[in-house]
Order: sequence, then C-alpha cells, then structure tokens
Amino acid sequence: MRLQEFPRHPLTFGPSPVHRLDRLTRHLGGAEIWAKREDVSSGLAFGGNKIRKLEYIVPDVLAQGADTLVSIGGVQSNHTRQVAAVAAHLGLRCRLVQERWVDWDDPVGDRVGNILLSRIMGADVRLDPAGFDIGIRSSWEEAIREVEEAGGRPYGIPAGASEHPLGGLGFANWAFEVAEQERQLGVTFDTIVVCTVTGSTHAGMIAGFAALQEATGGPERRVLGIDASATLEQTRDQVARIARNTARLIELGRDLRDDEITVLEGWAGDRYGIPVASTVEAIRLSGRLEGVILDPVYEGKSMAGLVDLVASGEIPRDATVLFAHLGGQPALNAYSGVFD
Ligand SMILES: Cc1ncc(COP(=O)(O)O)c(C=O)c1O
Repeated sequence: MRLQEFPRHPLTFGPSPVHRLDRLTRHLGGAEIWAKREDVSSGLAFGGNKIRKLEYIVPDVLAQGADTLVSIGGVQSNHTRQVAAVAAHLGLRCRLVQERWVDWDDPVGDRVGNILLSRIMGADVRLDPAGFDIGIRSSWEEAIREVEEAGGRPYGIPAGASEHPLGGLGFANWAFEVAEQERQLGVTFDTIVVCTVTGSTHAGMIAGFAALQEATGGPERRVLGIDASATLEQTRDQVARIARNTARLIELGRDLRDDEITVLEGWAGDRYGIPVASTVEAIRLSGRLEGVILDPVYEGKSMAGLVDLVASGEIPRDATVLFAHLGGQPALNAYSGVFD
C-alpha cells in the first residue's frame, strides 16, 4: 500500500509552518537554517510530533470501536499529553501510565506541564516508579488488561507511538509535505536535523525521503538524527527497524541502506531527560535570537547538535538545513531551576 492510500484522520491545521531562522543563521555564520514547526501545527493541547503520528493511527482506533486510549511515557511525557488531547477530541477515555523515566527532582515535577494538561483533559493518570525504557513496557500491557477487565474496549498506543505498525507513517508523509513547501518557497533542504528517542519520527522521515526520491528523482538528503535517549544502541536499532518496516509498508521497493540511517551522539548527556550545559545554551540561544522556545529533554539537545555540527563544518557552510521543531515546551515548567 502506498503512503497516500493510508487513511488519515486530520488533527492538524494543515502543513506545519516552515520559516527561516535569520538571526541564528547569521550568528552561526555558516549554513542557512530553517525550522519546520510541529509545535504550532495543531490546536490540540499545544501540538507536537505525536499528533502527526496519531493522524494515521486514529482510523484504526475508530475501525476497532475502541472506547479508551491506553498509553505510556515519563511523568513529563509530551506523547501522553498528546494522546490525552486526541482522546478528548474524539470523545474517548484515556488511561495513562507515567513512569519515573527521568531522575529529576523538581518539587512540582508531577503536577505541572504535560501531566497537568493531561489531567485537565480528563485522562486517568497513574504514576509508576519504573525507570526509562523505550521498548514495550509490562506496566502498559497491565493497564490495557485492566481497562479490558473493567469492561472497556482499550486501544494500546506504545511509548511515542513508535512500536506501532503505523507509527512511522506520519513522518513519512512529512517528507512529501516538505517537498511541496520547498516548491512554494523556492528552497531545497539538503540536511534535516531531528531529535530522536523512541525513533518513529526520525525513522518515518528516512523512509519518506527515500520514497520521495524514488518518486521524483529529487536530491539525496542527509537526515541527521540527534540522540536524546542516552541509550544510543537501543535507539539506533529501533530507528533502523522502524525505518525499514515503514519503507516496506509504503512499498519503497528497495531496502534502506545502512548509510541512510544516521543517529549521532554527543548531546544527550549521560541520562535521558537531564539537560546538560550545551542543552541550556542552545535553549537560551534560540530564545534570545529567535524567540523560539525549545525544551530541555528533546529539542534543546537537537539544537545543541545542530549548532556544533555547523561550527565544526560537519554541516558545510553552503548547506541549507531544516530543523524539525517537534514541540515539547510544556515540560519546561518542571525544569525552572535550570534557568535560575
Ligand atoms: C518534543 C519531542 N521531541 C522529540 C521527540 C522524539 O521523537 P521520537 O520519540 O519519535 O523519537 C519527542 C518524543 O519522544 C518529543 O516529545
């Protein structure tokens, strides 16, 4: 089945905006930097990258007649907040498992930001002491069982919607959206920079840009995933597996090469969810130069990667770079101490 044939339930305003980051470009004195803004693409609870993935999952939810979405993430998960928003929007119930993925003791960390928004939207939020893991979690399977035993019809959405068979489609389609915006703007992005943790955002892009090139013969592009998981091998394996599964699903017609799957390390620090000096610097830089707000768990880390890759020449001076801004700002509320 080709990408355009998969049903898509609209949850966004349309294509996410693309704009130049002029002052950041001048500051870096090298490549031309643009951003594509998943953080302002939807009216559902501040949006973000999961909304786009869920557009391809919701038709299956509705076809199965589910009445409860069941998902999982860290206490300040953006993903679970977006699942709660989509459940509210569709008139479904929502059960969320919020594990202690981040060893970060903010006095109001489990009461503000994403988890607050999920509670406001009516989700049944349960805290769980388990630590970070991007794979399938027994606590999530248990929550699905509990909803079933209580007479509900659960629909399980794994962490980041990544280990879902349709999880890569949203960002495969993103590639085609980029190509259309390039035509409108008269620009070609040769380098994409994207934060990667559970993997299906980056993986979808890899499959999507490969399919775009097969379809249109357009340019080869580098899709650089910046690891923010600090469990590099697990994320790299997950990105490769999901990219290949998505490529098969959309009938790419060839296997993805290893050199198309690039996950770079160096900006995650030692542990998921803990900002390091380069994260905070990147957040301040983007805020002060552009008025663009980044978060300390994901986008601050991928922007730190972008800055260093341009400074080192790894992204060359004549490159035109698209920074995928995937959202995540509500989590800032649990990190105020970082900016004292
Ligand atoms: C703001 C933000 N950026 C990046 C990511 C990473 O996306 P993925 O989990 O699909 O790798 C996430 C979610 O995990 C996120 O919420």
